[in-house]
Amino acid sequence: MLIQLKDLLTPDEMRQARARLDAQAPWVDGASTAGGQAVALKHNQQLRQDSEASRWLQTLVAGALQRDPLFVAAALPRRVLPALFNRYRAQGSAAPGTGDHYGRHVDNAVLRLPGGSAAEWMRGDVSCTLFLSDPDGYDGGELVVHHSLGAQAFKLPAGTALLYPASTVHEVTPVTRGERLASFFWVQSLVADDARRQILFDLDMNLLRLRARHGESTETTALTGVYHNLLRQWSQP
Ligand code: NI
Repeated sequence: MLIQLKDLLTPDEMRQARARLDAQAPWVDGASTAGGQAVALKHNQQLRQDSEASRWLQTLVAGALQRDPLFVAAALPRRVLPALFNRYRAQGSAAPGTGDHYGRHVDNAVLRLPGGSAAEWMRGDVSCTLFLSDPDGYDGGELVVHHSLGAQAFKLPAGTALLYPASTVHEVTPVTRGERLASFFWVQSLVADDARRQILFDLDMNLLRLRARHGESTETTALTGVYHNLLRQWSQP
């Protein structure tokens, strides 16, 4: 499922984030962190992960996710990989006249968690892109998600995030004017299967609406039980 988290970052947080990214941020070639087939497809820059700016921004994004009930309801997060940050420019690392872009690809199924000496891995179930640039500030740079119903292009307001299944083929089209800043990260969900997450999300959202309209009733209590019993059946430690 595709879910937009509107205003994940407040305008004030957006300003602070932009200040960190616009300043002398330590950008490195995005291809340096890509593996296998992605190297040839990825033409952008990425904020150095061990930088102070990166750590500060990761804390900001993690805090915003924690306070967003829609994120929790949609992703049912078990683990969230610390956010990464990228930049696509019209005059970037891609061939002249092309503009930075990231060709069609699928994200890795298994991701390495940072820190610690023992290698720890998580499964990537949900991919997330948080838009950090005003859409008027750049041309191109759309996130296109290819799924069973076709392709859908997204160019969302600064501060808004898109959650989409990590299993989908997706791409970022070339930026032909200005620059596009974004954050991206992955979530391992308690429920690995996207269709099951969708069922739980629909039940959860409609229960909220029922309660708002009619208050608590025997039926809403029973349906809440159904929600939790399905989650019990489907969740993985
Ligand atoms: Ni990707």
